[in-house]
Amino acid sequence: MSRKVIIAGNWKMNKTAAEGKALVEELKKLVADVPVAKADIVVCPPFTTIAAVAEAIKGSNIRLGAQNIHWAANGAFTGEIAADMLKELGVEYVIIGHSERRQYFGETDATVNQRVKAALAAGFTPIVCVGEMLEEREGGRTEKVLFTQLEGGLAGLTKEDMGKVVVAYEPVWAIGTGKTATPELAEETHNYIRQTLNDMFGKEIGEGVRIQYGGSMKADNAKELVAQRNIDGGLIGGAALKADSFSALVHNAIAE
Ligand code: 13P
Repeated sequence: MSRKVIIAGNWKMNKTAAEGKALVEELKKLVADVPVAKADIVVCPPFTTIAAVAEAIKGSNIRLGAQNIHWAANGAFTGEIAADMLKELGVEYVIIGHSERRQYFGETDATVNQRVKAALAAGFTPIVCVGEMLEEREGGRTEKVLFTQLEGGLAGLTKEDMGKVVVAYEPVWAIGTGKTATPELAEETHNYIRQTLNDMFGKEIGEGVRIQYGGSMKADNAKELVAQRNIDGGLIGGAALKADSFSALVHNAIAE
């Protein structure tokens, strides 16, 4: 089954509105030649930068994502963001359960699950992040950790729901460290995730789910990673913060 490549830039807590606008003004020219049929290109700015970016990317092939979503429609949830607020700005994708939220902000598989359901109900494409810590990898617990995250984060989803979900595999030890998983190791883990999704939702659904790799992905390793059978794109941190490095990564990822 062929799955369309999806490259998403997770800007994390970087770029003011003015900086974000400048980045995408440059980026949209650099990626204008990438056919929509070949790849989904997504940028996920901080909340306060989304509106300016939305305006700047109008009519381009760049799509908009957010970095979190709350499960309630509104209410007393200081510091959180609701579906309608993102919808109004033209957001289509939402990153959920990034390891930084799990590590520093108490995100659990249960809250990930609530956020995923809210995102789906509002018509967003959730990008659900999973990944093991270094000590879990070294202790031989990677598969168990991933299984628990997938089972918990995707609990109660129907096959139809799952058809709209993107999974991002981000080994925590590779994020921002310059230590990318080798293509072989990443593929082995992506294959495990694929088999788990096949078991949970059936092969017709599991084989269609796009699984991104994240963790020190750059222009020079993107091609080899995306060439793997079960790697369908990337979730990019550092290399997404400059138009030229992100554009080069996108082009290499889809190069024949
Ligand atoms: P880096 O690309 O900076 O390693 O970050 C990966 C990541 O966490 C994307 O969500």
